[in-house]
Amino acid sequence: MFTKEELQAGLGTNIFGQKIYTYNSIDSTNSCAKVIASTGAVEGAIVITEYQTEGRGRQGRTWQSESGLNLLFSLVIRPSLDVNNVGLLPFFAATGVANAVEDHLKIKCECKWPNDVLLNGKKFCGILMESSCQNNQLEYAVIGIGLNVNQKEFGPDLEKKATSLSIESNKELDRKAIFQHVVRSLESVYADVQSGNFANILKAWKDRASIFGKEITLTQTGTKTEGKALLLREDGGLAISTSEGEKVFYSGDITIIG
Ligand code: BTN
Repeated sequence: MFTKEELQAGLGTNIFGQKIYTYNSIDSTNSCAKVIASTGAVEGAIVITEYQTEGRGRQGRTWQSESGLNLLFSLVIRPSLDVNNVGLLPFFAATGVANAVEDHLKIKCECKWPNDVLLNGKKFCGILMESSCQNNQLEYAVIGIGLNVNQKEFGPDLEKKATSLSIESNKELDRKAIFQHVVRSLESVYADVQSGNFANILKAWKDRASIFGKEITLTQTGTKTEGKALLLREDGGLAISTSEGEKVFYSGDITIIG
């Protein structure tokens, strides 16, 4: 495992990563980050590990990652944010990751609603945002990022859907350099979160999305909805035109039909 000194040397940020907690193995960096956030961890604190015994994904799924090959970390943030805007935070994270990966590898990323970042149609990065609110204001959010860097093989259920930066760029990559690039990029996009300017973030996200105008299936807790993906609302909701009229969703999994 990298030491926190190695991760911080040359990081060049002012807020993110000023405090870093490193673990060889942990249950979940998000679970740990929630504990430290609820007991006063500073904004920008990061929990990072080589392996998670209970890595969590969206919709109650698990997040599997081979030990020592990828990046698994969670960032604590405390922006002044109305509870209604908390759902926009994953778009900030996805945009930060995509900006860094495009800059680092000179390859184009795709953003898939709600929280995935893809290369060549396959997912290399998942984001799990968890938050605590009080009196309709955000108290803290934990942004959990699972980024496949040097993993070459995925299990039979994932091989058609998952990829890594190494697979897509055909080279072995320096995980510390990618971590630092992503953290710097997140801090740079975070300026828009702090000023409440989510329009910039949503525009950058939409520019990388490929679903709009296409027929999709959205699955939410086992229920499927089919229709045309119309637009991303200002609150992060996905508007779909269905046979029963327009519907808006804030969570779920989408696939493009055909
Ligand atoms: C998803 O795509 O379903 C979200 C996956 C998020 C995985 C990351 S890995 C680091 C952090 N800790 C967790 O337990 N989950 C997130």
